[in-house]
Amino acid sequence: LAEKAIRIALIGCGDIGRLRAAALVRSPGFELSLVSDNDRGRAETLATRHGVRFDLDWRNVIAADVDAVVVSTPPPLHVQLCVEALQHGKHVLCEKPLARNAQECRQILEAARGAGCQLATGFNYRFYPAVKVVRETIRSGLIGELDHIRSYAGHPGGQEFTHPWVHDVNVMGGGALLDNGIHIIDLTHHFLGEVAEVKGFRTGNVWRFEGCEDNGFALLKNRAGKIATLQASWSEWRGYRFWIEVFGTRGCVRASYPPMFAQVTWRESEETKVRRKNFFFPGFQIAERIRSFEWTIIKSFIEEFAAFAQTIAGKRTEGASGYDGLRAVQIAHAVYESSENGTCISLTD
Ligand SMILES: NC(=O)c1ccc[n+]([C@@H]2O[C@H](COP(=O)([O-])OP(=O)(O)OC[C@H]3O[C@@H](n4cnc5c(N)ncnc54)[C@H](O)[C@@H]3O)[C@@H](O)[C@H]2O)c1
Repeated sequence: LAEKAIRIALIGCGDIGRLRAAALVRSPGFELSLVSDNDRGRAETLATRHGVRFDLDWRNVIAADVDAVVVSTPPPLHVQLCVEALQHGKHVLCEKPLARNAQECRQILEAARGAGCQLATGFNYRFYPAVKVVRETIRSGLIGELDHIRSYAGHPGGQEFTHPWVHDVNVMGGGALLDNGIHIIDLTHHFLGEVAEVKGFRTGNVWRFEGCEDNGFALLKNRAGKIATLQASWSEWRGYRFWIEVFGTRGCVRASYPPMFAQVTWRESEETKVRRKNFFFPGFQIAERIRSFEWTIIKSFIEEFAAFAQTIAGKRTEGASGYDGLRAVQIAHAVYESSENGTCISLTD
């Protein structure tokens, strides 16, 4: 596999499937072989655009002669598609959220273990360059020892609900925390390390969708006692945005988008002055202005696929695993449980 291209079947040719396909055809070491959607128009349009075959039935696709499957359908299908693809010996990269609840996620992880195949979760924010600055700064030791993390993701709801199923609890398993919030739950978990305790609240006074919070608030503690706070919102009236701030004993690093921006503030010692470095990523701002914000998503998908190839080759990467997908869903649901019972939830493995 190291020298041969990894042949991919893509299931789900909607908004994200279209961007996944655009990333795959630009990804060295990958070959988009087949696309699938039960909507003939979408499957045919995407297949024609990239000169590949299409099939309306995902069961034919997971049995096809491909090495890996990318799942970009709505969440209720994730469990069955992933489990069966893995049982057919395919590696899987599944869009976020990995599934609607922890039980479904565990079924997928078990199938991966049983099949000895790789399972990745589509947490592409990990590859945004501002987020990479956060990762590199923490690892460099510049801001000292990790102390705490704050993060936020919001969009205004309304037209930003790309599909009505995004606010249907039977499809998503919850609200803002499982939608846009799941990305910052993952980033927070990625930088904080293993989350051990969760306290949280959720509210639904703005959109009033049954079972779907429009604001979710979490207080997390890792196994070493370090703290994180996060908020996911569907009432961010200014428009889509996210940020994460990591505080250390000697400084702070923050990433935000849009626009893509990172900033490191630190002091070498108690005697020295505070220093600051800004990262503006003008290439991203120009590309988004000329093309659209989709350019940034495709770029992150390309890097995520490169990590997926490394994972398949048995190497460690910055990409999110199936376990990371499970952990994020567990944290969201722990907030729901905590909000309902007023308790602090301990996360077990
Ligand atoms: N990574 C990100 O930032 C990001 C952003 C938005 C959405 N997503 C996730 O991507 C996934 C897809 O979201 P979307 O916005 O592209 O949705 P979408 O509705 O635009 O696309 C989903 C596609 O799946 C197809 N589909 C439905 N049932 C099917 C079946 N049985 N067999 C084959 N195809 C079927 C639909 O016809 C549709 O074309 C979701 O899990 C969503 O949460 C990720």
